[in-house]
Amino acid sequence: MGIVVLTGAGLSAESGLATFRDGDGLWERHAVEDVATPAAFRRDPALVHRFYNARRRQAAGAQPNAAHAALARLSNRADVTLITQNVDDLLERAGARDVVHMHGALNRAICAACGHGWPASGDMAASEPCPACGTPACRPDIVWFGEMPQHMDRIMQALADATLFAAIGTSGQVYPAAGFVEIASGCGAACVELNLDPQRTSPLFERHIVGPASQTVPAWVDEILG
Ligand code: OAD
Repeated sequence: MGIVVLTGAGLSAESGLATFRDGDGLWERHAVEDVATPAAFRRDPALVHRFYNARRRQAAGAQPNAAHAALARLSNRADVTLITQNVDDLLERAGARDVVHMHGALNRAICAACGHGWPASGDMAASEPCPACGTPACRPDIVWFGEMPQHMDRIMQALADATLFAAIGTSGQVYPAAGFVEIASGCGAACVELNLDPQRTSPLFERHIVGPASQTVPAWVDEILG
């Protein structure tokens, strides 16, 4: 059985990391166009770095919760493709195998000039020279609005082969991730949504498991693993 799990910010909310669109969410406090677009980075790289440096420090200080641990257990025991929109590394730190970071990762930098990527756990600055080409054009390896999500070929293949698709802690507002349910369902997968609130974003979810991820995800994983 091929399982595809898509996770969003709700997965890490109980680890203390803010979501984007909830009442106290990041996009309530920061304008997307100031911090999360290629144009913002060209206009004010220092501001963009400040925003992501803060996110990186918060993620480093957070601990995986029971939902991360349950998905790690699932990834080690079943045929599962674990796709996350999250840029934290809490799934990996819980022991998850082979996490597909479609929106990039806070702990990686890329060179805005040549595209070279490298691991970077501390604060970043645009003046840092690229280890490959030497240009001072360091940016976080984050997929900004207007940019192409990563690993899409692999994701599309997994969705086409899926028998079960689960969307966990995501508002379903951002494409292409918001359209995965349609693809998986069209290819024959059963679709389930786990969220704090019933999102009802798509009638294609035939099951809604409502509650905090730290409670619903372990129970759902137990159900699958028997
Ligand atoms: P959102 O902030 O849009 O949605 C968070 C979802 O998590 C909502 O549906 C909440 O109801 C749910 N939620 C909150 N707390 C929860 C909990 N404890 N247990 C279960 N669910 C909970 O975040 P995403 O859907 O991840 O992209 O946002 C998608 C993308 O938009 C992000 O990856 C980011 C953002 O702009 C980029 O920055 C490229």
